[in-house]
Amino acid sequence: MQSVQQLMKVFVTRRIPPEGMKILRQSGICSLSVWDSDEPVPHAELLKGVAGVHGILCLLTDRINAEVLDAAGPSLKVISTLSVGFDHLAIDEIKKRGIRVGYTPDVLTDATAELTVALLLATARRLPEGIQEVKSGGWSSWKPLWLCGYGLSGSTVGVVGLGRIGMAIAQRLKPFGVKRLLYSGRHPKPQASEVDGEHVPLEVLVSKSDFVVVSCALTPETQGLCDKAFFSKMKKTAVFVNTSRGAVVNQEDLFEALSTGQIAAAGLDVTTPEPLPVDHPLLTLKNCVVLPHIGSATYSTRGTMAELTATNLLAGLMGTAMPSELTL
Ligand code: DGY
Repeated sequence: MQSVQQLMKVFVTRRIPPEGMKILRQSGICSLSVWDSDEPVPHAELLKGVAGVHGILCLLTDRINAEVLDAAGPSLKVISTLSVGFDHLAIDEIKKRGIRVGYTPDVLTDATAELTVALLLATARRLPEGIQEVKSGGWSSWKPLWLCGYGLSGSTVGVVGLGRIGMAIAQRLKPFGVKRLLYSGRHPKPQASEVDGEHVPLEVLVSKSDFVVVSCALTPETQGLCDKAFFSKMKKTAVFVNTSRGAVVNQEDLFEALSTGQIAAAGLDVTTPEPLPVDHPLLTLKNCVVLPHIGSATYSTRGTMAELTATNLLAGLMGTAMPSELTL
């Protein structure tokens, strides 16, 4: 058993699922300081919490920038994020300092793909509007022209970013009778053949698709990708769905496209900012369904994410191979 002085210091920026905490507590190699709340750690507390630590276990809501890295100081060996996305980490700064990064790919693919399908169907078939009508007494009778939406059968679906999650979405959508599955991205992907995916330029995807599903990482290239020009190429009957990162979308342009009938509807699980202020214009629109970033929110997925995040962190502390290390 190591003495307390030899334990490595770890700051955990939030209350996380118990599966992860158990692994950290039982490791016997680290002393834990936890921001024991369901709400994000305030920036000043984050700076205090990381001072002199060897490891940080963080979430996608924590911006780990040069200031935080400086506050941690030279002892910092590893940052393990409870997310597959890593746009909240200042990767260049982290790399420069020789710090290793763990993340959680794969384990949330199925949950996120499921949620994407649910959001697409809820948006296209206007479920929130229907539920509201039932509750408010607006349901007066069965009406042939009431609450009609769009179906997947015989449709063309375009997936922007056919990575792990994009593929899992495509695999789930195909059995609904999707006729063509288009995808964009720098290179064709061999695995696309499993879903009869056709690699096309983004403009073709946008103009031909009945459903445009965004599933790409947020990078400098994809920031603001879905803008006025993008929406203006979409069909007026098309449905837009984003479960990646809010900043891929220019929300003012999306509002205009939705409110002028340039596109039919949008389903968003991610926004800028998060949470979206309750008086945000997008929330006034019936044809916009907004969820609070719950793509990976199943009990088992979050538990597995926490386990992987903890295991990555411990490997980073010990200098051994991580189950999921980000290549910097
Ligand atoms: C991630 O992990 O990056 C998702 O957005 C949340 O699970």
